[in-house]
Amino acid sequence: MGLLLLNGFALAAFAFGRLAVRLVRRAPAWAYAAAPPLAVIATGWALGWLMWALVRGGPGRAAVVAVRPDRRRHLVDLPGPHPPPPPLTPLPALSAPLPRLCPVTVSAETGRGGGRLLYGCMGLGGSWEPGPYGPRDVDAAEEAVHAALDIGITVFDHADIYRHGKAEAVFGEVLARTPGLRDRVTLQTKCGIRLPGREGGPGMYDLRGPTIVRRVEESLERLRTDVIDVLLLHRPDPLADPDEIAGALMSLHGRGLVRAFGVSNTGAPQIARLQARLDVPLVANQLEMSLHSRAWVESGVLLNTPEGAGHGFAPGTLEHCLDHGIRLQAWGALAQGRFTGRQRTPAERATATLLEELARKKGTTPESVLLWWLTRHPAGIAPVIGTARPDRIRACRDAALKAPDLTHEEWYELWTTARGVPLP
Ligand SMILES: NC(=O)c1ccc[n+]([C@@H]2O[C@H](COP(=O)([O-])OP(=O)(O)OC[C@H]3O[C@@H](n4cnc5c(N)ncnc54)[C@H](OP(=O)(O)O)[C@@H]3O)[C@@H](O)[C@H]2O)c1
Repeated sequence: MGLLLLNGFALAAFAFGRLAVRLVRRAPAWAYAAAPPLAVIATGWALGWLMWALVRGGPGRAAVVAVRPDRRRHLVDLPGPHPPPPPLTPLPALSAPLPRLCPVTVSAETGRGGGRLLYGCMGLGGSWEPGPYGPRDVDAAEEAVHAALDIGITVFDHADIYRHGKAEAVFGEVLARTPGLRDRVTLQTKCGIRLPGREGGPGMYDLRGPTIVRRVEESLERLRTDVIDVLLLHRPDPLADPDEIAGALMSLHGRGLVRAFGVSNTGAPQIARLQARLDVPLVANQLEMSLHSRAWVESGVLLNTPEGAGHGFAPGTLEHCLDHGIRLQAWGALAQGRFTGRQRTPAERATATLLEELARKKGTTPESVLLWWLTRHPAGIAPVIGTARPDRIRACRDAALKAPDLTHEEWYELWTTARGVPLP
């Protein structure tokens, strides 16, 4: 259709050009020859410009849209220049100071407050079966909690799923039995994992907004407290919407139910994405870190080696947490006893022997030396110890109360012995 129109216009221009030259009687011969093609070129140029204007916008576009609104969708919407980014809004002040996650000073009067460790409550509450707990489970929890307090630990780590909620429930009973205890401790719990079989569904991660809010309300009830000091998102949920997560967390904060937030098993890019949507700073990231689970330190030195290929630890996570004041917490810090009674491999046996030698030399326990290996690292790692046995908790006393006593050489000797193979 457009081509036909163009041809019509060209013929008309050609005829007009010849007519114009005939009218000017005494036109030279060259003008008679040149006028028609010049008229065609001029008409073509004018038509071309008109079509360009119609397609690309401007007055032509407005005219088309006005005359044929149905053609609007055929017009190309070209992106204009990028608008300037909105100004950064400063973070609002928190209504209460952030919870202290493992202060590193010891009070001269009480000897307390010096805990460099957290106590992990996953072992409290009896069996992993969903049934009820009994009075003996509460007594055992009370003994463990008091052993932890005795070595200066004041931060207690929970999760809604530990023993199907029974770990939080027995801890709540211990709080109820011990006047004033709630004010002396920092309570941390987690949500985001659904165990298989719960509500008849499969095991999965669930960080949908309403789920987060419901799980926190349930934890508050079990822990018999008004406020959770720190809530960690247990594991990233690939289906979750970060805006929805942030909305749920800010609503919990606004209602005064949670004082601060953190993450667990989460890498730097995911932390940054969530933080960008929150009005409060994330305060902690809990990861598996120990002399047995060494990816956190080895991912930084095995770069460019075959051994380092496929390392699961997100590179840069340690540094990101350090730079943003996010406290690193090490779960599995005692390596589930692999170096202090449950050793199975030659490397574990050799490490256990070395830990005993070092402990003898320094007048402490192998457990404390094992934890010093973590706290000696400059990332400021706070180990979470998970044994429920009071004697094993007390064996960690020096790690809780004293600065790590390991030389550069001793630290490397422990590392390479546990690896069982030399460093690259
Ligand atoms: N964020 C997460 O994804 C995540 C995952 C797991 C755990 N956590 C947290 O981290 C805490 C610690 O984790 P964890 O329990 O796996 O690690 P852990 O402290 O390294 O290990 C403690 C576990 O090992 C057992 N064990 C056996 N022999 C032992 C020995 N000689 N010395 C010490 N422990 C021995 C303990 O049993 P006994 O009680 O009989 O001593 C207990 O079950 C948990 O309580 C929980 O709060 C977090």
